[in-house]
Amino acid sequence: MSHAGAEATGLSIPRIPRIETLLSQMTPFEKAGQLSQLACHGPADEKTIAAVRDGLVGSFLNAPSLEHRNELQRVAVEESRLGIPLVFGRDVIHGYRTIFPIPLGQGATFDPDLAQKAAAIAAREASETGIDWVFAPMVDIARDPRWGRIAEGCGEDPLLTSQLGAAMVRGFQGTGGPHRVAACAKHYVGYGACEAGKEYNTTWIPERLLREVYLRSFQACVDAGVLTVMTGFNDLNGVPATGNEFILRAILKGECGFSGFVVSDWASIREMITHGLCADEPNAALRGISAGVDMDMAGRIYVDHLPGLIESGAVSAALVDDAVRRVLLVKHKLGLFERPYVQPPRQSVAVCEEHRAVAQQVVRESLVLLKNEGGVLPLARMERSIAAVGPLVDDPFEQLGCWAFDGRREDSVTVLTALRARFAGRAEIHFARGLPDCRSTDTTGFEEAARAAERADVTLAFVGENANLSGECRSRAFLDLPGAQQQLLERIARTGRPLVVVVMAGRPLLIEPICSLAKAVLVAWHPGTMGGPGIVDVLSGDVSPSGKLPVTFPRALGQIPIYYAFKNTGRPPGTDHRGIPTGTPLDPVGFETSYLDVDVSPLYPFGFGLSYTTFEYQDFSVSPIKARVGEPVTVRIRVRNTGSVEGVEVVQLYIRDLVASTTRPVRELKAFQRVALKPGESAAMEFALTAADLAFPGRDMKPTTEPGRFDVFVGGNSLAPLGGSFELV
Ligand code: NOJ
Repeated sequence: MSHAGAEATGLSIPRIPRIETLLSQMTPFEKAGQLSQLACHGPADEKTIAAVRDGLVGSFLNAPSLEHRNELQRVAVEESRLGIPLVFGRDVIHGYRTIFPIPLGQGATFDPDLAQKAAAIAAREASETGIDWVFAPMVDIARDPRWGRIAEGCGEDPLLTSQLGAAMVRGFQGTGGPHRVAACAKHYVGYGACEAGKEYNTTWIPERLLREVYLRSFQACVDAGVLTVMTGFNDLNGVPATGNEFILRAILKGECGFSGFVVSDWASIREMITHGLCADEPNAALRGISAGVDMDMAGRIYVDHLPGLIESGAVSAALVDDAVRRVLLVKHKLGLFERPYVQPPRQSVAVCEEHRAVAQQVVRESLVLLKNEGGVLPLARMERSIAAVGPLVDDPFEQLGCWAFDGRREDSVTVLTALRARFAGRAEIHFARGLPDCRSTDTTGFEEAARAAERADVTLAFVGENANLSGECRSRAFLDLPGAQQQLLERIARTGRPLVVVVMAGRPLLIEPICSLAKAVLVAWHPGTMGGPGIVDVLSGDVSPSGKLPVTFPRALGQIPIYYAFKNTGRPPGTDHRGIPTGTPLDPVGFETSYLDVDVSPLYPFGFGLSYTTFEYQDFSVSPIKARVGEPVTVRIRVRNTGSVEGVEVVQLYIRDLVASTTRPVRELKAFQRVALKPGESAAMEFALTAADLAFPGRDMKPTTEPGRFDVFVGGNSLAPLGGSFELV
């Protein structure tokens, strides 16, 4: 694998006179300083303040308060020799004070416009407290729910993640005017493919897969103008991502045209010593800067060792200047040279009504109804008593999910609170937690929960994972409900009363045992501040559920990794085959891609989600049915609401390229669109497939579109039936 010359990648960076003047004045120490980010855990000590004064710090990760931020900034701007402002970053992942559903839940909305709104709100709330830079969106594709960080991304599909990731970048950074905050696409690249779902683990991703699956969302963020990119902790094909010049210089800064700066992950430059790639700190610094990492997060490797490497000539001045130029350019784009300080707002917008309303809307759209036997949902108007049970029915903290540092439990509205408000005077709510928390095995509350269920027309049980069971370093080897939650559900089911289970979790869990007990199952992810009202809007029937799975739900742990865009193999999976294959070599029965002990299909496929209404797809057409390579193809379909309530359908278009010079997945999502329909109403939908949509990396890894037949599937999930075909000639 070749890579472009390091200096060459600097050529695309615009030359701004102010930045060029500064560069010409900077000492090697000041240059290394600009490339160093320090973590700030509390008010800065004298040593840190002196480092800022000496120009040895370019950025801080976390500042304890706006006052401290402005004070550090004052030292940088007014007391350091060159007066270069600092940039302050923080993990603002799915909201700042108003916490939105975890990114996986936002994936379930299939609604980039809404994700953009949520990100804009997060940026607004964060920026008024002095945050200039957020470490989001995470656009890692994840196909292994054991990996706890699956919660932080938008799921398994490159197109969905690209569209949502790009929308979040636009939301955080703003469009048109000065940038609100800088966004950071992370973790570059392939981190989600960690072996066995084990955190920080090795990844082996052939270049083809890298290009087809893992790089696309980063390209989308670059195209949306993302100002920064963070490297992954993973060893990628034998070279840690932080020291990998092929992915950083040749691809990101070369091919993708990224002109912002690359920050390492926390101490990941230093970790190249532990990986066994670098012998010592100077070597790690050299490797990081050579590979294309412009800023060292919290590692103190650059600040300690780059000046020596520059002076000895071990690292070229042009390479370092390119990195410094990139960092200064982002500061310039953020307006930090003109407006280094942040004034406290006259009135804070944190968790204001407008922000709550958007958060509630995201919750509504993120909920995925997987099962609804006998139409037990929505709760019928005559429901007079409802049992509300389970460890997550009234936990204002756990519903916030992972990475919600600035969210406050006192701002959260739980389901219990929302149920009581919604059904006041209309239905009795019998509340019994049943278990003190998700991981508990203390069954003493079971009988109380069962009594509540017995007294009620319907039981709503809220189970799942604590917030700290997903996110960084939260891999799980078992994906059942933790603690005694399954037993709690079994106890309630024994009452014989209808049971509705709402699962709040940071990943797909193995929910078949839940589905066999419950009449209805709703996936609510970790829904954030407005989880309660959003969930009650859907349970009550005020709003039909419209969320779709952004990730496949497996039947069994042994099916992982599992995803819809698999390859056909030479012996494709049949339907429902299980057991020892029989027959003769000429007539092999069951010699196919399968398992002996479990159906090969997922429990619920990608893109799946029910509504309270039904949709019918009619009048499929594709034109032209013979198109020249490069000519767009238009797919049309009419979607009709055939039920009795209003609903939103996420119309999904998949293609299959039947024969190509490299094998193609059995399905690839190429477009999706939400459409709101009243009962009886229909809408004509049109999707254009461009040459780029039909392209894939050819044998030479360059995008290619080849002649041949393409099947098109349009429907409400990844098992949508074949609509028709077209041919590229
Ligand atoms: C490590 C995480 O991997 C990354 O996502 C995060 O942004 C940084 N730490 C900063 O906290």
